[in-house]
Amino acid sequence: MAPLVAFLLSLNLLELIHGASGVTIISSDKDVEVNEFDKATLPCEYVLERGTQARLEWKRIAGEHISFVYFGEQIVEKYRERATMLGHSIELQRVTRADTATYRCEVTAKQDVKIFAEISFKLVVLVPPATPTCKVPSSAMSGSTVELVCKESEGSPPSVYTWYKDNVVLMDVSAKASTANNVSYTLNRSAGTLRFNPVRKSNSGTYYCEAHNKVGRSERCSLKFMQIKSRSAKSNAATRTNTPPAGEDFKHTKSFVI
Ligand SMILES: *[C@@H]1O[C@H](CO)[C@@H](O)[C@H](O)[C@H]1NC(C)=O
Ligand SMILES: *[C@@H]1O[C@H](CO)[C@@H](O)[C@H](O)[C@H]1NC(C)=O
Repeated sequence: MAPLVAFLLSLNLLELIHGASGVTIISSDKDVEVNEFDKATLPCEYVLERGTQARLEWKRIAGEHISFVYFGEQIVEKYRERATMLGHSIELQRVTRADTATYRCEVTAKQDVKIFAEISFKLVVLVPPATPTCKVPSSAMSGSTVELVCKESEGSPPSVYTWYKDNVVLMDVSAKASTANNVSYTLNRSAGTLRFNPVRKSNSGTYYCEAHNKVGRSERCSLKFMQIKSRSAKSNAATRTNTPPAGEDFKHTKSFVI
């Protein structure tokens, strides 16, 4: 009996020393960035504490959409031509922008202390930005709010945008600095918006934008001229003519009629 007790004690002791970790993934979960048409390696090496059997699955997650890459001990049909298993890791050949997604490795070891472990990778297939489209109103009234929009949809990771006025780059200004420097615009560099609130005559000019990400810089969008008009004296005069007679005039008219 004594040897068995000693054996059980030593097992417990081992568990205490190592911690009852069960199945453990030893790969690190860094995000993976690769150029389009290169290969991507997604590592998922693991160790079991007890037993030798584990079930391995690889999933692709893009928003709400989840699909298998590796299931039932094989690479699924869709990936068979360009995916290879290296141990438990996946090597994906000739990645395209469509492969940008999260990939999750899941290991289930039913006989282990802790039976489940997973690791996720965000795979970003790098694509330089395309030439953006810029929306600039050709004219607007001073005092109104005007928003210019720059957008392209190929860049991966997503592009950030730079606006130019008369060939000069528009710098980011905080709300506080914009008051101090008498600047009346706000930029959102990730949304590509340039907002004038209010717009002034001095904001008239030629505008264009560019997109860039860590892979490259786009061509600029075509130049667009924006003219800011002030309300003309003519329209003010027209407004005055149409206003009903003021109290004084009205009384006067009335007495005249009587
Ligand atoms: C800010 O600029 C506008 C137009 O350029 C000018 O009319 C206004 O007086 C300036 N305001 C200040 C506080 O400098
Ligand atoms: C910029 O635009 C993005 C996307 O539309 C938005 O999520 C973000 O809150 C905006 N940032 C600022 C400072 O307004």
